[in-house]
Amino acid sequence: MSKKLPVNKNDYIDVVFVDLTHDGSGVAKVDGYPLFVAGGLPGEKAKVKVIKPGKSYGVGKLIELYEKSPYRVDIPVEEKHKYGGCQLEHLSYEGQLCYKENQVRQVLSRIGKLENVIVHPIIGMDDPWHYRNKAQVPVGEKNGKLTAGFFKPRTHEIVDTDESMIQLPEVNEAIQAVKGICNELRIPAYQEESHQGVLRHIMARYGKQTGELMVVIITRTAEIPHKDKLIEKIIAKLPKVKSIIHNVNTKQTNVILGEKTTVLWGSEVIYDFIGDVKFAISALSFYQVNPIQTKVLYDKALEYANLSGEESVIDAYCGIGTISLFLAQKAKQVFGVEVVPEAIEDARRNAALNGITNVEFAVGEAETVIPNWYQQGNVADVLVVDPPRKGCGEALLQTIIAMQPKKVVYVSCNPATLARDLRILEDGGYKALEVQPVDMFPSTSHVECVVLMSRVEK
Ligand SMILES: C[S@@+](CC[C@H](N)C(=O)[O-])C[C@H]1O[C@@H](n2cnc3c(N)ncnc32)[C@H](O)[C@@H]1O
Repeated sequence: MSKKLPVNKNDYIDVVFVDLTHDGSGVAKVDGYPLFVAGGLPGEKAKVKVIKPGKSYGVGKLIELYEKSPYRVDIPVEEKHKYGGCQLEHLSYEGQLCYKENQVRQVLSRIGKLENVIVHPIIGMDDPWHYRNKAQVPVGEKNGKLTAGFFKPRTHEIVDTDESMIQLPEVNEAIQAVKGICNELRIPAYQEESHQGVLRHIMARYGKQTGELMVVIITRTAEIPHKDKLIEKIIAKLPKVKSIIHNVNTKQTNVILGEKTTVLWGSEVIYDFIGDVKFAISALSFYQVNPIQTKVLYDKALEYANLSGEESVIDAYCGIGTISLFLAQKAKQVFGVEVVPEAIEDARRNAALNGITNVEFAVGEAETVIPNWYQQGNVADVLVVDPPRKGCGEALLQTIIAMQPKKVVYVSCNPATLARDLRILEDGGYKALEVQPVDMFPSTSHVECVVLMSRVEK
């Protein structure tokens, strides 16, 4: 017999929020049953409506706040459209940093059972706004005019925005300019339901160190109406533009970029620097979105690796080689592994661009390539991992344990999988010494960490 839940759909109840979920919703407990409510902050008392009572947790809607958190910031209704993608817009920056640091501590203890590791205070930004170097905004139409912004949470409705608080001003300016030009030229927006129309997304990417701008026009159709006029007007309106790209996505899908990419004008790539290392970034490349905090993160990874110039280093999940090239400046040799072939092409191109010759890149799954290297007798002194949110594959963790590099530096964007993997490595003869949380994504619920692990000498 199924257990009776303490709440029913459409109930109105009074709650106190005790925590935040990993995606920033308030958590209230009703007779021990967790209720997740977007907009609630720990310590606040509120009236909520039960929307979806699930088996192990329910979802509610905030109706009225009786008592507010001292960390709450109220955003005027007319400014709300500037905060798309900001799950923590209602929490002060001080409150956000406190929440993220606590989340890391709690998860390392609860999932990783790591009690003695040093967790340093999180490194936040001096100015936590206007940090993103890239935006890709969906385009729609309302009353005969193009709209561009973000999807209202859990809907397909586009909120039209003239500015995003988390994007660099140059990125905001580029999106607005292209939207305006497409409006003038009456380029029709893509209609999701009927799969008709033309313009699906506008993307802009900006090299903060070089001042180079890339604009990507993403359409359903192979042709763009008034293409020449569009290019001419973009160049006239955005003097920093170095590259105008056309991407065609013919599929009825939520995936933004399609398979065909061509250069409409200018260069195929823009350039940017992280520290002294120069990177070529193409429209499809993964490149960290917060240039200021990326430098902080990579410097910490390099500090933890503590290289003398004699070490052989493996950089697993290396993307376009950003961390590998940073490490190569201080190591004897670096071997990077990444599953996306185009990213490895970029990584090799970036090594050549910087005249860095002590780095080699391999395409493949880190869980296959690194065990093969180990079988062939290739071992590393230092192993760096920077996996996607799901964490490291088991085969890689077991190979690390067998290979016994002196140090493991773990860069993670998900504290839960980080804690799980650190436990496996601890059980295999490593000790987590220090954890440095870094706030790469202010106003969102995400937190990044760098961890130093050392082999326990027997
Ligand atoms: C968090 S990103 C890190 C990229 C890079 N270190 C950086 O800072 O730009 C993770 C990378 O792992 C790659 N990846 C995902 N699964 C992989 C696997 N099984 N083996 C190797 N690389 C993988 C992704 O394509 C992505 O480039």
